[in-house]
Amino acid sequence: MDGGARRCLFSRQELEGRIQELGTRLSRDYAGLNPVLVGVLKGVFIFMADLVRALEFPVEVDFVRLRSYTGGTESSGEVHITKDVEVPLRDRHVLIVEDIVDTGLTLDFLRGHLASHRPRSLKICCLIDKWERREVEVPLDYVGFPVAQGFLVGYGLDCGEQQRTLPEIYVLEKD
Ligand code: PRP
Repeated sequence: MDGGARRCLFSRQELEGRIQELGTRLSRDYAGLNPVLVGVLKGVFIFMADLVRALEFPVEVDFVRLRSYTGGTESSGEVHITKDVEVPLRDRHVLIVEDIVDTGLTLDFLRGHLASHRPRSLKICCLIDKWERREVEVPLDYVGFPVAQGFLVGYGLDCGEQQRTLPEIYVLEKD
């Protein structure tokens, strides 16, 4: 699929409003806990930047980058770390921040990996829960928007590294 016709799914205003709501909830739930937010690159970089600024207190941030291997349209389920966390997570309250959950394989792997650091708590915040292709159930503690299906671009999400910087989220129309 290339960068052809697209339809706006979430406007800037909708994104800002929902992220503000998430920020308010997280500020309440993590008050006094000094959490570490671990973002999953690259797609998360715009959401993460807005989310941390919607919080009512400063937090520590770190990032991971993961690569999953696919064979054709099917995912093999194999996920590898290409950039690991750098902040020590032991006994910390850790919140994974993701832009989109699709099959769930990335987060399933990452949860296991970060759990091995023995954090005090480990939760997940994702902007988009795209559930129709889910292969592994992962507990999503904070969700921006549930979406059934579609190839989404913008606000960090890409199609072949294009369209990440669009300020809204679009769904690519099928030809
Ligand atoms: C996307 C997204 C998640 C992952 C979700 O990343 O940011 O990390 O896919 O897919 P899953 O639930 O099927 O595992 P992508 O691999 O496109 O890399 P990017 O963030 O660098 O664009």
